[in-house]
Amino acid sequence: MTTIELPPVELSRARTLDDEALIRLIMQYHDAHVRDLMTALELVERVAYRHGDSPDFPAALPRHIDRMLTELRSHQMREESVLFPVILSGRTDTLRYSIAALGTDHDDAQDQLERLVRLTDDFTPPAHACATWRRLYDVCRKFDRDFREHVQLEERVLFQRFS
Ligand SMILES: [Fe+2]
Ligand SMILES: [Fe+2]
Repeated sequence: MTTIELPPVELSRARTLDDEALIRLIMQYHDAHVRDLMTALELVERVAYRHGDSPDFPAALPRHIDRMLTELRSHQMREESVLFPVILSGRTDTLRYSIAALGTDHDDAQDQLERLVRLTDDFTPPAHACATWRRLYDVCRKFDRDFREHVQLEERVLFQRFS
């Protein structure tokens, strides 16, 4: 599985997009997040198989990535099947409540990212790490960066239009 590279985005430029274009941009992030976490899961399983007994391998990492993927999917599903269609339909008077709930998900996800940073020693593989292990940490670093950008796009641009 390959990852999806996203073009750099600035909040000032994102603010000039209309709702539809902004949602399209956010969905590109959603696709990239799922791809990255699926790639990371595949890689971490290979690394665990080969180096699971190494004292440098974070034993909790495979389950942590798996959990992040599950929670990410359910969060994205609620945005894609409820929030975004409501925004695009223009019936936005009750959106404040769903936006508050999604913001709580974002806080939980940020906690999970902090744990990812700790487990991977700030995405720094040990000196003896194999290429797969290094690639795993690179993918995790990319996911961390993209996810934080995506939360900014939602909270500081899209959600602000309706709260
Ligand atoms: Fe999202
Ligand atoms: Fe979100």
